[in-house]
Amino acid sequence: MTKYALPQIQELSPYNPPLGGRRETNSLLLNFNERTVPVPVKVTEALTAMLIDNKVQIYPEYGDLCNKIGDYCGVKNSEVMITNGSGQGIDLIFRTFTKKGDKVVIPSPSFALFYQCAKVVGNEIITPEYTFEKGFPFEETLESIRDGVKLIVLCNPNNPTGTLVSLEEIEMIVSTAREAGTVVIVDEAYFEFSKVTAVDLIKKFVVDEKKVVLGICNGFQVLIKLGILPGFDENYEDQNSSLALNDSGRYEDRWVNLKFNSESNCIATKGIDEMYIPVRHGEGKIIANDDVMEKIMDNNQYIAQYINPETKKIAVKYPINPNGSTNAIAGLSDETGRIFGLMPHPEANLLFENHPHWTRLKRDYEDKGMKIPEHGDGLKIFKNIVEYLEGVKK
Ligand SMILES: Cc1ncc(COP(=O)(O)O)c(C=O)c1O
Repeated sequence: MTKYALPQIQELSPYNPPLGGRRETNSLLLNFNERTVPVPVKVTEALTAMLIDNKVQIYPEYGDLCNKIGDYCGVKNSEVMITNGSGQGIDLIFRTFTKKGDKVVIPSPSFALFYQCAKVVGNEIITPEYTFEKGFPFEETLESIRDGVKLIVLCNPNNPTGTLVSLEEIEMIVSTAREAGTVVIVDEAYFEFSKVTAVDLIKKFVVDEKKVVLGICNGFQVLIKLGILPGFDENYEDQNSSLALNDSGRYEDRWVNLKFNSESNCIATKGIDEMYIPVRHGEGKIIANDDVMEKIMDNNQYIAQYINPETKKIAVKYPINPNGSTNAIAGLSDETGRIFGLMPHPEANLLFENHPHWTRLKRDYEDKGMKIPEHGDGLKIFKNIVEYLEGVKK
């Protein structure tokens, strides 16, 4: 069979720890870093009960295990993944984020499994060395990011040297890696000994990251159908509304008038009152049950509504409301105001010449001796986003 295995697997040499006969002699090899004290009575009792109740052969249920691990580690349960030992987690990271030939950095010497996982994928392994003088090879590791490295392992404290990497060094590596798209594994398998953790960096680099998400037309449908919008109470997973077939039963392709919600906290619609842009869709009617719709309205999570251009009144009914959307809603945002979407197309009116009547408008401007605008209504949404992101960067 061996010859059918991938070349990089054929090249692996077996890892043969001297495990044989240890159970009979009751011996404990401290360098195997096994538990030095017996398993707690509670655990023995629970396992025994499972055996007696015939539950061992049943696939496991995690119950609230993720919550408990999340509480212990100070992360959200959605950031916890249960694997068969952290070894399987490490293997999954290598296989998920790297491919054959990718460069990976494993400051060395370190835990044998890192090298094995990298070799299984076929990575090119770079091994800056720990030294007695400097400890962790910080400069070389940081420098490697510039050379297009795909993944860096930070084992903290390191097995087998026991060396610590400082949190400042980890932060510098992670922030440089983030810009370069390099993945960083911080292995804290021995946290209980060092009591040093980089877990706060998750909040800093992931949770606090003020990303903006905009979905237009199909993109808006995706955000709603995935349950990302309206995203009540940070729940971005359970769908509670939808976009249904237009009341007309057909595709509508025409320009509409929108009134923006001045009470909305959406970062993209600030200072926008009205807009003239097209709809181009067959399924744009927002529907939700009464409770959800009430919450959308009360929270001011609707960003814009279709209006009658003459009366300026909200257009609840087709045809001025092009799809029959509930409460004439054309777009929604989440509670943070950073994730939002709409059915009409602001990107279709970026230039003055995009307006369907631009030639007539041009004449009107000229007749009145007025300056012809350069841009269309839709651009303001994108300008607002850029302005917001520039503010976040500062
Ligand atoms: C640094 C390091 N990470 C991960 C592991 C894997 O531990 P587990 O038994 O959870 O797979 C070990 C085991 O020795 C280790 O030394």
